[in-house]
Amino acid sequence: MKNVVLIGFMGSGKTSIGKALAAKLGRAFVDIDHAIETEEGMSVAAIFAQHGEAYFRECEKNACRKAAERRNLVIATGGGTVKDPDNLAVLKKTGLVVCLTANADTIMERTRRTGQRPILDAYGSDDVGRRRAIAELMEERRELYAKADYTLDTTDKTPLLVVEDLVKRLRARGI
Ligand code: S3P
Repeated sequence: MKNVVLIGFMGSGKTSIGKALAAKLGRAFVDIDHAIETEEGMSVAAIFAQHGEAYFRECEKNACRKAAERRNLVIATGGGTVKDPDNLAVLKKTGLVVCLTANADTIMERTRRTGQRPILDAYGSDDVGRRRAIAELMEERRELYAKADYTLDTTDKTPLLVVEDLVKRLRARGI
């Protein structure tokens, strides 16, 4: 069976929805950030701090390649995974790509905790800086996320509802 690959902005629900979807479908779950952390023996924030973003993106590329070699998975990517077109191409070869979205206020709420998302933290910890970061990055990445096979908005939806919706859509595609 094809993999189900979740892409989307930070805080769009990729990890929590991915875990719940995998449980519902009886599939294994692979979280790309978590796979990198296991491989490197440190958190994503520590990788950014010690080795920089370029090194993290290399790790991300390797983790995507490895995950795409497998089948029957639910894969949650990181928000910036799609910045490298090779990552999307390799994941699309063996998977159906679903983009999760949420409006900026929801993303703001879900990513409020600092120290975990170096890309947002780089803009500062005050609300104004973070709001600007979210708006800028969402706009910058809009076209990349639009390359998904389909998109599902998670704003104001419970994870249960999102998973049910996803399962219906996947069944309709014979996945
Ligand atoms: C990033 C998103 C993060 C993580 C890293 C970079 C990004 O994943 O991969 O901090 O560039 O958007 P989440 O989307 O799971 O927060």
